[in-house]
Amino acid sequence: MEQYAIKGGNPLVGEVEIGGAKNAALPILAASIMTDETVVIENVPDVRDINALLQAMESIGVVVEHLDRHTIKINASAIHGHVIEDDLIKKIRASYYLIGALLGKYKEAEVVLPGGCNIGSRPIDQHIKGWRALGTQVDIAHGLISAKAECLKGGHIYMDVVSVGATINVMMAAVMAEGQTIIENAAKEPHVVDLANFLNSMGANIKGAGTDVIRIKGVSRLHKTEYAIIPDQIEAGTFMFAAAVTKGDITVKNVIPKHLESISAKLMEIGCEIEESDDAVRVVASKPLRSTHVKTLPYPGFPTDMQPQIAVALAMAQGTSIVTESIFENRFRYVDELTRMGANIKVEGNTAIINGTRRYTGARLTAPDLRAGAALVLAGLAAEGFTLVDDIHFIQRGYEDFELKLQHLGAQIARVETEREIQKFKLKVG
Ligand code: UD1
Repeated sequence: MEQYAIKGGNPLVGEVEIGGAKNAALPILAASIMTDETVVIENVPDVRDINALLQAMESIGVVVEHLDRHTIKINASAIHGHVIEDDLIKKIRASYYLIGALLGKYKEAEVVLPGGCNIGSRPIDQHIKGWRALGTQVDIAHGLISAKAECLKGGHIYMDVVSVGATINVMMAAVMAEGQTIIENAAKEPHVVDLANFLNSMGANIKGAGTDVIRIKGVSRLHKTEYAIIPDQIEAGTFMFAAAVTKGDITVKNVIPKHLESISAKLMEIGCEIEESDDAVRVVASKPLRSTHVKTLPYPGFPTDMQPQIAVALAMAQGTSIVTESIFENRFRYVDELTRMGANIKVEGNTAIINGTRRYTGARLTAPDLRAGAALVLAGLAAEGFTLVDDIHFIQRGYEDFELKLQHLGAQIARVETEREIQKFKLKVG
């Protein structure tokens, strides 16, 4: 099993190029099967979740061609089935985007129930409610979810919770339904907007994405397009916090600063300096970090996917901070690991009370999920001494070349697999 070996203590300094957004690329790749014409998608991150989805698409006859590492050509004219049972797909939550896409185009789909990060119970009742409102019969049996409609008809859906996944899945199903669909209390995340822009570039008629009411007029067919995915807000935010915790100076490049506003605002509150330009944000952490309070919220609030990273920073800030998780109930599983590095954090329900400690000490850690795994790497980079992070396959689900990008900023980090490699790393970093 691969691990990250880290020797902490170096301020990270320099520039880092941010890749395409995983959470935008997943629904966009799924939606690309909604036309028989060829679609070219640029700025696709080369990460495990994306590759798992592409393999599942290939299993039903979609032709996937890599034009280069980040550009993918897709042709779905030879799809030979609407049932996806691929074992890989169980591991990624976004497998369910293929239901919305297949249902929208072929009026039927059968897909393995989604897996994904264990960050709390993750119901799909709002997806199902939306599909049913469009006239779909939905059943769950033998671990598969099947959706079938004689004819999809536009409907009016009020989401009971703000859900990225449900908004996206209902949007895809509605694009080729007869008549108008209105989704109220829709998610406003940048990746929801990116999917709507992509579908519109294929001939769909979607208005209001990015607000809480989305209006979709059904069209009879979608056509070819070329489209570039937006930059990854969470990858950028993770590197911004890497600057904060290592007393560094990092410029994240190829980003949309507007998408990073809630993250930049918190970094300023805790004492970092932020410089924004058109497509880059620089974070300078020259002063000791200060405490603050933060609550995760749907966009434009502070993202739940950045909660572990900010907690790592707050656990080394002066004073007491309160972190409230309002989206997923099981997102503090990294706290025990941080405690072993010297953090002082008490979790009560959906709240973590953090008393800042002056420094972390390196330890052997286990990544509990994707974002918490990345946050533990940040803690290791800030810590005194040697840290080993296990289960880094979680991190590889969503971060491309994570250790290479960190090394480029001056981090002492290596991917290791054996005791010998660990010893070699220790000798090298001293
Ligand atoms: C997506 C992101 C994930 C991010 C999350 C919140 C992807 C692949 N994943 O996950 O990284 O953390 O948004 O920004 O894009 N809910 C229901 N019923 C439903 C659907 C959701 O009750 O049918 C609840 C969930 O339990 C959760 C909340 O709604 O409490 C938000 O979940 P949702 O926005 O759907 O998250 P995902 O789309 O799964």
